[in-house]
Amino acid sequence: MTTATTAPQTIPGPRGLPGLGWRANILKMYLNPFAYLRWLHDTYGDVVALAQGDPSNVVAFGPALNFRLLSDPDLFRNDAGPFKFSDDTAFGRLMQNNLPTMNGEKHRQHRRLMQPAFHRQQVTHYRDDMVMLTQSMLDSWQGRTEIDAATEMKLLTQRIAVKTLFGLYDETGVERMGKLLLRMTRSMLLVMIAPVNIPGTPYHRVLGIVGEMEAMMRSLIAQKRQQSEATDVLAALVHAYDEGGVQLSDEELMGHAITLFVAGHETTANTLAWIIFLLDQHPRVQADLLDELSDVLHGEAPTIEQLKQLPLLDSVVKEGLRLLPPAAIGTRATSTPCELGGFELPKGANVVYSEFVTHRLPQLYEEPDRFKPERWATLDRSPYEYLPFSAGRHMCIGAAFATQELKVVIAMLLQHYRLAIVPNSRIAANISMRPIPGLPVRVFPQDRQFQRAPIRGSIQQLVDLAQ
Ligand code: HEM
Repeated sequence: MTTATTAPQTIPGPRGLPGLGWRANILKMYLNPFAYLRWLHDTYGDVVALAQGDPSNVVAFGPALNFRLLSDPDLFRNDAGPFKFSDDTAFGRLMQNNLPTMNGEKHRQHRRLMQPAFHRQQVTHYRDDMVMLTQSMLDSWQGRTEIDAATEMKLLTQRIAVKTLFGLYDETGVERMGKLLLRMTRSMLLVMIAPVNIPGTPYHRVLGIVGEMEAMMRSLIAQKRQQSEATDVLAALVHAYDEGGVQLSDEELMGHAITLFVAGHETTANTLAWIIFLLDQHPRVQADLLDELSDVLHGEAPTIEQLKQLPLLDSVVKEGLRLLPPAAIGTRATSTPCELGGFELPKGANVVYSEFVTHRLPQLYEEPDRFKPERWATLDRSPYEYLPFSAGRHMCIGAAFATQELKVVIAMLLQHYRLAIVPNSRIAANISMRPIPGLPVRVFPQDRQFQRAPIRGSIQQLVDLAQ
């Protein structure tokens, strides 16, 4: 008997450009990410090569492949990619010590140490800070007629992050840390592309910022070591130890704390901005939500108990995260040659998966482009079918924190103000799912005069706003 040998199949995909290969298609994805991802899936299927036939850079779509990628973290690893930094600089040490780029036993150990600080029960302790800072933002809007809701949400989530993560209670500390972190993250892309330590370069500048931040963090960590009670995340991490008595070192604590700030504020800010947008465009939902909030909260900020009694708020948050997930794509790299969706991948292949495309599959979500919070009253989806916080071992550690923050802010904001999008604003989303150029809104005391504003811009290709 002869055994038929099957030649390895070519992975379908768009042609790469001569000399540029898949890079040209990455650029297309960067310029119009959401339409491009959906086009790739519709045109080529569940496994797509970013340059036809090249198995080293592929995109995998749908729940079955999400499961394959995310449930086997030793095979499909998180990787810092081609960016390697010398770990004898402050920046290099920082890049070594963060959950998203850790793998294997090291990731498991650090995650175990950090998990208690983000446990649902522990997160309830951050509710008062969330309420206090939201209230101070709402107070600052008095007398203002127009704001950029995207910027306001970013400022708020930054302040909540600095306060709850680092326990900085004096305004100068909050501002100083916030500014340093921002200056650092702004230069990040240039640093990744050109880590050249010469005076005047972004990398040199970032090393200076990181040095300043390290000094501030070291003194904070020393203070937390004296504290007996863990009232903030950093204090909880300082006092965390595993069964073997192992604790996080100062270097590790700094890396984690900074990653938490970076991972934790922009995603939440973008979600808040999009929920404000979606509510403006769906006046009925907004009216129903305000009824629910007023009935339960009577104008007050929600307690932890009350948050459980607000099903429509829960559905609005879930649906906002489904439709416009702030982490629209993720990546993994193969640790060894393997099979994916019927194709052979080499060791080191980069695989992109997409929360965004999964959330738009009509077989999972009826009328997937529409904002329909009511669907969640009956819908139940697996962690690989609904994954705004990803799934598996690297699933967002801050999911409970973020969900609580989103709910507290929306509940308080809506009971105080009606934000109405400035008519004819042009609105789009970039690859980080940030509203661009922003979300200009008019501010009114809450008067229930909900009306959908006419809008322009490519967001209309992402959300079906037909009545
Ligand atoms: C709406 C808000 C948020 C969204 C949509 C979000 C989304 C995500 C996603 C998709 C991942 C997984 C990435 C991957 O699989 O590689 C992730 C990981 C992570 N997130 Fe979030 N996140 C949010 C808020 C937060 C907050 C508030 C914090 C902390 C305060 C946080 C901290 C982290 C950390 C540390 C990781 C890495 C976990 C690991 O690798 O083990 N995130 N997040």
